[in-house]
Amino acid sequence: MKGVILAGGTGTRLYPLTRLINKHLLPVGNHPMVCYGIERLRQAGITDILMVVGKQSAGLYTNFLGSGENYGVKLTYRVQESAGGIAEALELAGGFIGPGEKFVVLLGDNLFLDDLTPFVKKFKQQEPGSARVLLKPVKDPRRYGVPVFHHDNPDLIEYIEEKPQNPKSHFSVTGIYMYDDSVFGIIRGISRSARGELEITDVNNRYARDRKLEYDVLQLWWGDAGTFESLQEAAIHMKGVLP
Ligand code: DAU
Repeated sequence: MKGVILAGGTGTRLYPLTRLINKHLLPVGNHPMVCYGIERLRQAGITDILMVVGKQSAGLYTNFLGSGENYGVKLTYRVQESAGGIAEALELAGGFIGPGEKFVVLLGDNLFLDDLTPFVKKFKQQEPGSARVLLKPVKDPRRYGVPVFHHDNPDLIEYIEEKPQNPKSHFSVTGIYMYDDSVFGIIRGISRSARGELEITDVNNRYARDRKLEYDVLQLWWGDAGTFESLQEAAIHMKGVLP
């Protein structure tokens, strides 16, 4: 199985820091943020990884990570020209994923302590053309994609609401997604949202509509390091994860 790490975007919530350096290269403890996602994939046996990076910072990534050899993985790079959304960044993985192939997607700012191995194992057993997301209970779901479960089958997500004012569950859809190549056809079929982005929630809702969106719940700490507060919290939790 392959992995894709999405590390494009502008990181405006972390200005002025991200005027100087891309969000995913900011320090979390004694490593740049992006290293933790690479390690989580490697730990789950996923060593063939595509990094989608923004144009301005592409050189920094190749300088720092190189071929991936020092991290026990093989890295390929694709450049996202502008921050047109998570699904737009994911579309760039099209040529990297073979026909019928399954893969794991991580948002580069998502940091977490769970080992992905058991979730990947379950996804491998899912039928072709289905997807899996990982959830985490959170105090304030309004910052995230929030799942609503099928009343007749609570193992399935009925739909996801992106940053709802009145969340219908206390879970966040984390930036850990599992797809096969069917996702690229779905991305081609969605339109840009009001903020001009191709939204990952619209992609996931296509699977949900067809009763093909399953999930697991992370057991350990998870956070997205997209704000100053969460960046500091992440540094505390991720301490010692990497040598
Ligand atoms: O962290 C989990 C949340 O991530 C989910 O609950 C939401 O459903 C999902 O939409 C996303 O929300 P955010 O508002 O946090 O997404 P953000 O725009 O901050 O982008 C998150 C990561 O995605 C970022 O670290 C890099 C990548 N990205 C984002 C954009 C907009 C790209 O690679 N390219 C992009 O154009």
